[in-house]
Amino acid sequence: MKIFLVGYMGCGKSTKAKQLAHRLEYPVVDLDAEIVKKSGKTIAEFFETFGEQGFRDYESEILKTYNYPENCVVATGGGLPCFFDNMDWMNDHGETIYLEMEPAQLVSRLHNRHKRPLIKDLDDEQLLEFVKVKLEERNPFYRKAGIIVNAFDLDVEKLEKEVKKLQG
Ligand code: S3P
Repeated sequence: MKIFLVGYMGCGKSTKAKQLAHRLEYPVVDLDAEIVKKSGKTIAEFFETFGEQGFRDYESEILKTYNYPENCVVATGGGLPCFFDNMDWMNDHGETIYLEMEPAQLVSRLHNRHKRPLIKDLDDEQLLEFVKVKLEERNPFYRKAGIIVNAFDLDVEKLEKEVKKLQG
């Protein structure tokens, strides 16, 4: 089973993907890390060189061409589900879980802003407004996920239980 974790920046996709993969004894795939590995650029450098559109094209290509193991947990970039047919593609090729979180909670977790080109120049107040607006835009895509879980204080046992339900 391929399990794609989706959700806004800061909701904990990479950490939860690692923890869940560990419990299920599946390998973990981090698509942002794959972009960095394949392109030889950090995400920030990629945005600077090719712009957001170039990044979206490349992340969709990586999503669809990566050689996934039969069973794996995949951490996706926060914007990935919201471009092209990426969300439908993930639903067709595996199971999707939306790690849902409130804007204020996301903001409190968004450290290392300089690594995230979309928010690197925003102060705290601007960031909260930005996250509120973006989340509203993105939620219709995220909510196509097969499972939606509240990601605040989420423990990995709960996530694992949800996956076990899918496995029957
Ligand atoms: C983005 C989220 C980032 C990364 C890029 C764009 C977004 O991933 O893909 O900076 O549009 O929300 P994380 O959600 O892992 O921070």
